[in-house]
Amino acid sequence: MPSSHAEARIDLGAISENVELLRRAAPGAQAMGVVKADGYGHGMLPAARAMLAGGATWLGTAFVEEALEIRAAGLTVPVVAWILPPGAPLAAAVAADIDLGVSTPELVGEIAAAARTAGRPARVHLKADTGLTRGGVTADRWPEAVAAAARAEAEGLLRVTGVFSHFACADEPGHPSIAAQTAVFHDALAVAERAGLRPEVRHLANSPATLTRPETHFDLVRPGVSAYGINPVPDAPAGRGLRPAMTLRARIALVKRVPAGSGVSYGHRYTTPGPADLALVPLGYADGVPRAATNTGPVLVAGRRRTIAGTVCMDQFMVDLDGDTADPGSYAVLFGPGDGGEPTAQEWADLLGTIPYEIVTRVGPRVPRVYTGARTGVDAG
Ligand SMILES: Cc1ncc(COP(=O)(O)O)c(C=O)c1O
Repeated sequence: MPSSHAEARIDLGAISENVELLRRAAPGAQAMGVVKADGYGHGMLPAARAMLAGGATWLGTAFVEEALEIRAAGLTVPVVAWILPPGAPLAAAVAADIDLGVSTPELVGEIAAAARTAGRPARVHLKADTGLTRGGVTADRWPEAVAAAARAEAEGLLRVTGVFSHFACADEPGHPSIAAQTAVFHDALAVAERAGLRPEVRHLANSPATLTRPETHFDLVRPGVSAYGINPVPDAPAGRGLRPAMTLRARIALVKRVPAGSGVSYGHRYTTPGPADLALVPLGYADGVPRAATNTGPVLVAGRRRTIAGTVCMDQFMVDLDGDTADPGSYAVLFGPGDGGEPTAQEWADLLGTIPYEIVTRVGPRVPRVYTGARTGVDAG
């Protein structure tokens, strides 16, 4: 059951504006809003609607189940699902007009069979592994995948709506792999073209490439994290103006005075240097606050930045008010856009040696998402 004392406030207006900014950064391309992993923790359907309100014309998910949820909510825009493990509900996906990202030649046959079952042609995006070495068809098998898709297209079983790939190091501007992957992608497109495939959309760019590498925009860009307002290349001028959409906060559950030398929380990893007022913040690692934030995580409490005192527990952590006091029931803000003095998800990530993607996606289901700023006519549900 969701808590009433903690919330992740999601500024849907910021998501729409971020997508508008990204579209200005890629004026010749359409934008796919990436909403996998529950919209990077922001709530998939509200995030999807906010992205569409900002001008996204496609949505992207990892799994078919996520895409089916989008269809069940009544959204009819093209949705691509790009991880298809064995047993993925391919026929249901085809029936629901979900575009399928294909990473093996064998999957072409399986999708063609699913199209027969569904009684309609599948929509397929062939995914080339241009050097990420994760999903995607490797260069040696690409001609085989393309030929299989061309045959199935000729039989009317599928339509190759897209050809795409994904970067390994686009968040490191100037990394040689970016140009190398782009070149391999051009080769893959040429092979597809020679086989007679005419995809509507060729797409390669994630957020960092959208913001820094116009030559990778092709017909469609696929921003995820930047649509939620986190700039994966903080120096990129094109990303100035992105606004983080999520604010994570909780009401202080209690404030207590303890003597100097008190060991605080499990393991006594913090000891009060003097008599101290401590605030108990009811969010823990079960809610996505990393346990590694013990004695490290920054929090805005009673108007000042403070640091988590002692071990982060499952449901709570303590903050030393450092001579100040705080009202029980007032908010402790873990992260947000930063303009109210609160830390950002980027700062949390930097302190913990991770990326802000992990900070926002790990916020757990016990924390209710509270939506603000939805554009008129856009239903937040
Ligand atoms: C295939 C694909 N495209 C686009 C994205 C969006 O990436 P980002 O959040 O860096 O914009 C992802 C996310 O990992 C992805 O897997």
